[in-house]
This record gives sequence, C-alpha cells and structure tokens, in this order.
Amino acid sequence: MNKLINGRTPLYRAVITGYGSFAPAKTLKNEELAKMVDTSDEWITTRTGIKARHITTDNESSAFLATEAAKKALAEANLDVGDIEIIVVATITPEMVFPSTASFVQRTLGAKKAWVFDLAAACTGFVYALSIVQQFIESGRFKNALVIGAETLTKITDWTDRTSCILFGDGAGAIVLEQSNDGRRGILYSTMHSDGERWEALNCQAYGSRYPVTKPLADPKKIYMQINGREVYQQAIRRIVETVNHCMDHCSLTIDEITMLISHQMNARIIESASKRLNLPAEKVFINISEYGNTSAASVPIAFDECVRKGKIKRGDIIILVAFGAGLTWGANIIEF
Ligand code: UT7
Repeated sequence: MNKLINGRTPLYRAVITGYGSFAPAKTLKNEELAKMVDTSDEWITTRTGIKARHITTDNESSAFLATEAAKKALAEANLDVGDIEIIVVATITPEMVFPSTASFVQRTLGAKKAWVFDLAAACTGFVYALSIVQQFIESGRFKNALVIGAETLTKITDWTDRTSCILFGDGAGAIVLEQSNDGRRGILYSTMHSDGERWEALNCQAYGSRYPVTKPLADPKKIYMQINGREVYQQAIRRIVETVNHCMDHCSLTIDEITMLISHQMNARIIESASKRLNLPAEKVFINISEYGNTSAASVPIAFDECVRKGKIKRGDIIILVAFGAGLTWGANIIEF
C-alpha cells in the first residue's frame, strides 16, 4: 500500500524498528483481590475481562519498568544507545515530580545524545507520543526516537474501593522509531483530541499545585485515582468508534485492509462493543487485558509487543492503535508495519 495522506506523501516516514515490554514479576489474581474487597472473580471477569494484573514492589519504579522495556526494544531494533536522539516517556505515574522519568531512563541506558521528556496524557499518552515523534522524523529533523509508555498505577490505587481497584495494573512497553525514505511503511496518519471539560471523570488530584504535599488534605482519598466508571465507559466507546471511523475515511481504508486494531486495554467489554460498531471481526481485535488489567499509557505498547510476538501481525500489515483516557483525551495512529 502507498496511500497519499491528505494529498501529501512525506519525504521521510517514521518506521517501527523495535518493540519490547516488561511487567513486574508479582501478580495479583482476581481470587486474591476478592479476599481484600467485596468482589468476585466472576464479577470482574464478566464486567471487564480482567483475570489478573502485575504489581510493582516498593523497589520497582516507573523508570525501572520503562528502562527494562526500552532495552528490549533497542535490542530488537539493533540500535546503539549512543545513537538515540529522542526519548519520550508517556506516564501519569512518573518517577518524581521532577526531573522527568525520561531523564532516569536516559541515565540508566547511557543515551547521552538524546533529549528527553515525559508526556502526561493518561491512557492516550503513548498514542500522543507517537504522533509528536512522527512529526520530528517526517520533517527530517531527527532520525530516530525511543517512545515508552510506563506506569505504576497500583501505587495510586485505593485498595479499599472495589469500583476502581479491580481495574489497574503496572507495566511498560517501548517502541523504537527510525527515519525511512521508503514511503510505503511507517506511521501513515495520527489524530489526537482532548476535552478538558470532562476532567472529573477520571483523576488523581493530590499532589500537584492545587493540593500540594506540604498541606494536609481535607479528603485523604484524593491521593488515589478516582473514576466515574459509567461516564468513562460511554465516552470511551463513542470516541473510539468516532476516531477509528475518521482514520479509515481519511486514509481511504476499508475493514478488509486492516489487519489489527490494537486498543488501549481499559475494559474488554468497551473494546468489544466498539469493535462491533466498527464491524471489525474478533480476529482483527487484539485483547490482552486478562493478564495485565488497565496499565494506562503502557497498555498500547505492551499489546503491540505481544501482538507481534504472537505472530498476529507481520511486516506490511496495516494496524490501528487507538486510545482513550483521562483529560479526557483520545487519539489513534494508522501504521503500516
Ligand atoms: O482507561 C480509562 C479508565 N477506565 C475506566 O475508567 C473504567 C471504565 N468503566 C468500566 O470499565 C466499568 O464502568 C466498570 C468495570 C468500572 C464498572 O462496570 P459496570 O458494568 O459499569 O458496573 P456499575 O458501575 O454499573 O455497577 C454495577 C453493580 C453496582 O451494584 P448495584 O448498584 O447494581 O447493586 C456496583 O455497586 O456492580 C457493583 N460493583 C461491584 N460488584 C462486585 C461495582 N464494582 C464491583 C466489584 N465487584 N468490583
């Protein structure tokens, strides 16, 4: 395929040359969660598709997970760390308030040439990051980038709230993008959206400048993620369908031309319901939430890595990455792998 996107074929494209993921060894199964809060494996499985999630220990941080995933992606790409030009870490559970998680990844990898930053767009963070890096590579300004999604959501989870604690897990995924002048392959199109009016649907309010760590919190629950599950559920389906339809129209793609939809893994029911509305058959939709839960910005690159390694996508296939999350934010990338 050699699609003209908006009548424009860039001189260069951002091609995926490496991918990798990492999850902490410790897991928490639904049956174990059912001993902590009033829930059951049956309720969690039927409502979300989740069976277990990976959990970091006190010694495992977001930068650690990010670095482990990055090492695998760099090995796959056969890219020397000294040649990395950009490192972006998409995360809402950063290593510290500052410096960025990406600074720690750079330091541990020894990627001295790179300039680095974090991107906070919650579950859409990785898809946003690919879209930003795509611009730098297509313009010819940079030749490669390491893009990572890394989260330790279980560190901001309220383990007494059964409506949210069943959902989240920890992990990281990474992708190496490199400049190519083979106009056929790479990220063909990205679309990004936000709606700050609906910020309350999903949030974690402490400890930023509104509720600083230096002042006692009137509501101690503000240190945890708070979600309006129903609202997110409905918005997520609506926005995923809208975004994927827009991408297909914009790139003149048909369902037959799509090999795989890799969605942010927030709830198997949301992904299945959106896919049904898009007339995408089950074999064209990758779901791996059962083992990971929702890992926010890490979920798309973890799913991408697993999808390739399980042989479900191969070079030349057209893939849609789509995500929806806090902000609210949503977006998609169309990629010829
Ligand atoms: O990536 C974005 C972040 N993700 C999200 O924000 C999640 C999006 N939303 C969802 O995935 C779903 O809305 C949930 C999985 C959170 C909830 O599923 P639901 O089908 O929308 O359930 P519900 O909130 O309507 O609750 C149904 C019932 C309620 O009981 P009553 O009022 O019918 O008696 C809840 O109290 O299920 C009860 N319930 C539970 N029962 C057992 C809520 N959580 C649990 C639980 N175990 N963990």
